[in-house]
Amino acid sequence: MSEPSGVHHLARAPRLLWVEGSPKGERSLSTACASAFLEATAESQPDVAVTHLDVWRDDLPEFGGEAALAKFAPLFGETLTDEQVGIWQQVTEQIELVAAHDAVLVSTPMWNWSVPYRLKQWIDIIVQPLASFTLDADLRHVGVLGVGKPAQLILTRSSAYDGRAPELEDHQQPYLEFLFGSMLGFELAESVVIEPTTAWTPQEREEIAARAVELATEAGRRFRINSTTGQA
Ligand SMILES: Cc1cc2nc3c(=O)[nH]c(=O)nc-3n(C[C@H](O)[C@H](O)[C@H](O)COP(=O)(O)O)c2cc1C
Repeated sequence: MSEPSGVHHLARAPRLLWVEGSPKGERSLSTACASAFLEATAESQPDVAVTHLDVWRDDLPEFGGEAALAKFAPLFGETLTDEQVGIWQQVTEQIELVAAHDAVLVSTPMWNWSVPYRLKQWIDIIVQPLASFTLDADLRHVGVLGVGKPAQLILTRSSAYDGRAPELEDHQQPYLEFLFGSMLGFELAESVVIEPTTAWTPQEREEIAARAVELATEAGRRFRINSTTGQA
């Protein structure tokens, strides 16, 4: 049966964007887990094309005063200055990079109960009204950027809780799950959370790392990227 004229379903490889939040490279446990996850994903979906965004080494636009003014300018009916237009072009490119992918993997350590500041910088860039979320009739946030796309979080932390105020001590997992799930609309797979990662003997640390990589591998095997968005 032939397609109606003008409709071309050109299947393309599913695209996954890996956002690497740890600056520690080969010494990073979250990065090792992300690599294991990607290897396992590639076994079940060999055609997946991975883009690697290293928030520490890749260029990210500064999100400072002019960007903050540009963000609200349309709302306040203000015209962007030339400088703001330039900044917003770079912001838009980062959002388009996410939008051009069918799935997202974020791997990150906890830093001071939250996320490393370069990952936060990237978040400040890609979370924008209309382009990544919008409001419904009751003024509630509705995701745009992640709709119909799966996302996986791989999170490491030394020892997030000391048991006294757990609701105040984790601004990594609840924050990222809220952001990628509720705010941006991604379909979140169960987060891979590795803790505690600090142990005193090398043998204990090796055991923790081996178990962590195993958990990430299992998550990678379960992860499925929808091919519905894989149309040219
Ligand atoms: C600057 C900095 C701040 C950290 N803050 C916390 C923290 O608040 N809570 C925690 O449990 N671990 C904290 N850690 C420990 C890391 O989250 C932990 O070592 C993690 O396993 C590192 O993952 P990575 O190897 O992927 O970078 C911190 C580490 C660094 C370097």
